[in-house]
Amino acid sequence: MPDFPTPDLSHLTRADFRNVYEPAEDTFLLLDAIEEHPRIALDDDRQRDRDWPSVCLEIGSGSGCVSTFVAKVVGRSNALFLTTDVNPHAARATRRTGEKNEVTLDPVVMDLASALLPRLRRSVDLLIFNPPYVPTESAEVASPSNLPAPLFSISASWAGGVDGREVLDRFLPYADELLAPGGVFLMVLLEDNAPEEIITEVRDRWGWTGRRVKERRAGRERLVIVQFVRGADVHVG
Ligand SMILES: C[S@@+](CC[C@H](N)C(=O)[O-])C[C@H]1O[C@@H](n2cnc3c(N)ncnc32)[C@H](O)[C@@H]1O
Repeated sequence: MPDFPTPDLSHLTRADFRNVYEPAEDTFLLLDAIEEHPRIALDDDRQRDRDWPSVCLEIGSGSGCVSTFVAKVVGRSNALFLTTDVNPHAARATRRTGEKNEVTLDPVVMDLASALLPRLRRSVDLLIFNPPYVPTESAEVASPSNLPAPLFSISASWAGGVDGREVLDRFLPYADELLAPGGVFLMVLLEDNAPEEIITEVRDRWGWTGRRVKERRAGRERLVIVQFVRGADVHVG
């Protein structure tokens, strides 16, 4: 299996990272999960015949590091790489990171995935979200009810509200609308977000299979990458 380098972010400066989330332990754990994923990173023979994923979507792309990495691993001519972020600085950084690393990303500014439906209904093969997950006051969270105030605030990158779950819980119904039959959803969580509870809730609501695929301690936090897979036999209506 080829070793994929971390995307080149040398075009982003200290000034950029005052407005855009700087890749950190959570970002790099996600890259590791992508690189080790048996359906995303393929050996050379299987890479030649690759027909999955066609549509990749990252929510909250920040610097663009994750989607750039996905595009490199998947192969740049094989798929559409869409990203969203509520922060316009992040959308610009994402585009620049794609260009710097010679992959084409399509960043769009929006709350979660609100502008992608209904067009992308049940069309996303690979869905990725490293959400704001740190438990905070609700007022710090970027949401339609308090936009645009925190729009340019870097705290909206990590502020997850009550139990660090507010952004995530608001996103899950979108995930159900977006994910294609057989699609994979990778998400970053903290142990404090109660990953098992989320896995059970998603299984009970939609029948998806969920499990931890990677975890790592980062300071006082324990980061967990959870993968959900939607069954391939779902009716696409
Ligand atoms: C923890 S950062 C992750 C950034 C990048 N994906 C990474 O892994 O380095 C979370 C990102 O989600 C974005 N975000 C926060 N609330 C959002 C919302 N309601 N809709 C879209 N993006 C949001 C933030 O602006 C930030 O870029």
